[in-house]
Amino acid sequence: MDRNDPPIPLRAFDTPERLTDIDSWHGLVPLAFALVELLRPGCFVELGTHQGDSYSAFCQALDRLDRPVRAYAVDTWQGDEHAGRYDESVYDAVRRWHDPRFGHFSRLVRSTFDDALEHFPDGSIDLLHIDGLHTEEAVRHDFETWLPKMSATGVVLFHDTNVREHGFGVWRLWQELSARYPGREFPFSHGLGVLCVGEVPVGIAPWMDADEATWDDLQRRFHALGERVRLLGERDRLQSRLGALEERLTATNDHLQTLGGNHSKALGVIETRDHELAQCREELDQLAVSERSARLRLERHDRSRAFRLLKRLPFIGPND
Ligand SMILES: C[S@@+](CC[C@H](N)C(=O)[O-])C[C@H]1O[C@@H](n2cnc3c(N)ncnc32)[C@H](O)[C@@H]1O
Repeated sequence: MDRNDPPIPLRAFDTPERLTDIDSWHGLVPLAFALVELLRPGCFVELGTHQGDSYSAFCQALDRLDRPVRAYAVDTWQGDEHAGRYDESVYDAVRRWHDPRFGHFSRLVRSTFDDALEHFPDGSIDLLHIDGLHTEEAVRHDFETWLPKMSATGVVLFHDTNVREHGFGVWRLWQELSARYPGREFPFSHGLGVLCVGEVPVGIAPWMDADEATWDDLQRRFHALGERVRLLGERDRLQSRLGALEERLTATNDHLQTLGGNHSKALGVIETRDHELAQCREELDQLAVSERSARLRLERHDRSRAFRLLKRLPFIGPND
């Protein structure tokens, strides 16, 4: 690293407090930490929050600034055609996490981006993160409608500048805007564009002025920091899957034990029945032996001399 390279704020090395199973922003978390530290925004707005991975990173950093701050997350919390539609449980979970942790300076604004516009005076936003629907038309609309709200040193962040498939069009708008305003793009984690729509803030002037080699080095370092966060998120996800699997294993073992109890009860019943069956068989055998000896005795009797003589005598009926 050269002594003149733009420094990376220490805060960029912080560990994020919230990483959900939506990981598209995880690799950019150190950048969010650094941007807040370098820009020190008094007012931050995010358009598109979903489960709150990016918003949490910004709020975590804002909370540490030694100046008054305001933050707003705008979302319908219903989803869109790229993020998918989702149910109320998403908003409920975000609120449960957000309100106690960041409620002292931040608000969740549940509305469309357009409807939220009227709550923000012109020139009032220092840092805006646009991460709603990613078609070119939608992002262009979000940028143009929110541009008047930006302060004199306002910075707009665009997520997904490096996605070209599935109808994503942020990259096209980014090409156009980065030719018009000073801007830098981090290509990893789907791409993050940093656009200075007013005067370039002092904190990130070295980023805007960096030559190609310096810039390449800086983004590599942020990429390495981002990879650490991405891996932390993956570890968390694997740990919670492991926890769920352990719970299933315990439940299956309990079930097996119950089945084992039933099984030994069933074995006891079968054993009693087998015993009764053996007794019946024994009695049957004895009866068969007795029946055979009775038959033999009868045959012997029929063959006896006295009986044969008797059979030869004239039969005298009751009326004779
Ligand atoms: C890509 S997600 C946001 C991801 C989030 N920044 C993260 O860290 O994972 C997009 C969100 O924008 C919301 N959204 C899209 N268009 C919107 C609009 N016009 N008004 C309000 N919310 C919108 C969707 O409900 C969805 O939750």
